[in-house]
Amino acid sequence: MRKIIIAIDGYSACGKSTTAKEVARILGYRYIDSGAMYRAVTHHFLERHVALTNPKEVARALGEVSVQFHLSAKGDNETFLNGLNVEKKIRKMRISEHVSPVSALREVRVAMVEQQRKMGKEKGIVMDGRDIGTVVFPEAELKLFLTADMLTRAFRRQKELLEKGDLVDLDTILENLTVRDTIDSTRAESPLRKADDALGLDTSHITIDEQVDEVVRLALSRIIRPRAGRP
Ligand code: DC
Repeated sequence: MRKIIIAIDGYSACGKSTTAKEVARILGYRYIDSGAMYRAVTHHFLERHVALTNPKEVARALGEVSVQFHLSAKGDNETFLNGLNVEKKIRKMRISEHVSPVSALREVRVAMVEQQRKMGKEKGIVMDGRDIGTVVFPEAELKLFLTADMLTRAFRRQKELLEKGDLVDLDTILENLTVRDTIDSTRAESPLRKADDALGLDTSHITIDEQVDEVVRLALSRIIRPRAGRP
């Protein structure tokens, strides 16, 4: 069967990765969490105390970074930085608090986008992020832009962190989401925005199962009827 690229963009905690992961599993596609790549770079920069205002330091540190994904025994995609599993570390609030300024750097974006495009060469991929439909794969056959109201997003993120053993108060999460939304959507390099041909999906009042069903339905229609009228 013909393979396509599915680009899922949107704000943090709108259910992008949960949806993307499940859609990829159902279709037998590869799932790539592009945010994890920016988080891994941020982790490396923090460890190396890289001054973001110093282009030489940024370039040197970036040259040391190799991000890969491997499936765990449970079938989950885990992020590896220079051969080490950093999946748990990159999900911590400390990384969330530093990732937006790092991912706003042009050099960082150029390096990550290059790797992401390589991963999509064979198609059969679901990638989620902020600029997947606009910059990484402008030719993607299916583009979605997820939104949800702020409180729903904050509760979802709090639950997610709690499941990983991190108890974070709601105000801290709300503050972090607001700051990241602002930086991610106003930065000069590849700001978060809905691609003109992306379909908007408000996930505030629908379940993950409903989200997944809708995306799979859209994907199948693109796979089966590539040039026909869009649903
Ligand atoms: O999806 P996430 O919340 O794990 O992403 C972390 C940060 O990475 C997010 O605040 C902005 C950045 N990011 C980006 O700039 N471009 C992407 N394609 C994905 C994430």
